[in-house]
Amino acid sequence: METAPKTALEGKAPSPQQPETILQDYPDRRDTLLSALHEIQRCGARKSWITDQEISLVAQHYHIPLAELDGVVSFYKMFAREKRGSHIIRLCDSLSCRVRGSLDLYHHVRNKLGISTGMTTQDGIFTLEIVNCLGACDKSPNLMVDNTLISGLTIDAVDALLDGILEAEQ
Ligand code: FES
Repeated sequence: METAPKTALEGKAPSPQQPETILQDYPDRRDTLLSALHEIQRCGARKSWITDQEISLVAQHYHIPLAELDGVVSFYKMFAREKRGSHIIRLCDSLSCRVRGSLDLYHHVRNKLGISTGMTTQDGIFTLEIVNCLGACDKSPNLMVDNTLISGLTIDAVDALLDGILEAEQ
């Protein structure tokens, strides 16, 4: 299992702060909006979606109509408005990864977790998503766990990854 260096793909760790406090760090400029949404989506323990209340707060902070902000959040697949698992597994199924076995990995993950694409495990730990190219085709097959890219996957590596997360969540 190979882990990408901590570059742009490495997002911020979950923030222990409240959304109101997070927004104080973001000036009311559109170029900061996506970063603020990312941080708010991951604030608090075991959270990976944006609540209606948080959308209202962000809309007020940036002086954006609610409908417009809703459109922004809906446009980007990395944001969610419904409750998701505390860890998002994003498995790439674009060409390079498909050629190198992403479909087998998908079936394995689906069977291991007992969920299909877009679903969340009953314990609330994992949500499984299928995504397009993650920009690391030369290291395929790839997936992302939350904001971390994992490359050169095998069935054993996926098992170790998921088991490790489960163990950490106990
Ligand atoms: S095709 Fe999977 S990372 Fe590009």
